[in-house]
Amino acid sequence: MPNTKPLILVTHALPANWLSPLAEKCRLMVGPAGGAGFTPELEEHLLEADALFTLLVDPVTEDILERAPNLKVVSQMAVGVDNVDVAACTRRGIPVGNTPGVLTAGTADLAFGLLLAAARRIPEAQADARAGRWTTWNPTGWLGADLDGATLGIVGMGKIGVAMARRAQGFGMKIIFSNRSPLPEIEKNFNARQVPLDNLLEQSDFVSLHIPLTKETHHLIDAAALRKMKPSAILVNSARGPVVDTNALYEALTKGWIAAAGLDVTDPEPLPQEHPLYALSNCVITPHIGSASFNTRRRMAEIACQNVLAGLEGRRLLHCVNPEWMQHISSVQRPSLSS
Ligand code: GLV
Repeated sequence: MPNTKPLILVTHALPANWLSPLAEKCRLMVGPAGGAGFTPELEEHLLEADALFTLLVDPVTEDILERAPNLKVVSQMAVGVDNVDVAACTRRGIPVGNTPGVLTAGTADLAFGLLLAAARRIPEAQADARAGRWTTWNPTGWLGADLDGATLGIVGMGKIGVAMARRAQGFGMKIIFSNRSPLPEIEKNFNARQVPLDNLLEQSDFVSLHIPLTKETHHLIDAAALRKMKPSAILVNSARGPVVDTNALYEALTKGWIAAAGLDVTDPEPLPQEHPLYALSNCVITPHIGSASFNTRRRMAEIACQNVLAGLEGRRLLHCVNPEWMQHISSVQRPSLSS
């Protein structure tokens, strides 16, 4: 008897209980831990795959889609989907799911942690303490920037931008922001001003990026943008690495165009061990851990599983980045999952 359960390619090994909503109704082919993208073994099964369960490091290209003619849904366990050719999915009538909401607080926590770490030079001070350079209470040692009364410029006032503003308010910061559409409610709620990006860069003591990576935002923070910032300013990027021009950032940090940076995302990613940014004491770098709390990751997996099941049955996904997929509804048969 042929196995009629739908086949889900899960690109990376995940804790079994994270995938349990799928295990009963589907066949799972799970890739290895670590790495990025589809292994040759997974690629071999694209032809029969009904769904892809992907991470942000897996390129879902036109070529991958071409080789997966039975695909009914791409479910990404992340909010950002810049690794997925969404337009190509839409043309094929394939919904693309993502996992917003559950990682809002976690990502804002991490971004704020980077802001504090860079402002108060926490990693540098820890390294000095560990290396025996804490020889006395030094009145001029490890001096950093105040948050209280400082201006935080938030680029992109989506869910995570708003969560960042909430945290900043608690620390007595003033908030300005830039956003594609006007947000008068946010201005009112946070006593904040919406300003064009150039003004934000010029006026902010801290700039925190919360925008998706698109053609328009690629290298949004380039040399010209960095030169507009205050020499005392600190840049925080917890969005996507390529939003910032890495070479320009290195120049900015070494030539004093800005004071410091806190990066949870880099370009390239991972940032190679020999990269000169690691050698800079005014650059705090974490390995893309914005959503890395136990609860957040488990909840992301939960939503990604629900998106797979909904996509297989042709139901509305919990979160779908291309609702217009329906206008291109594909002729592939959707399996019944009732057992
Ligand atoms: C993390 O960066 C995400 O997009 O979920």
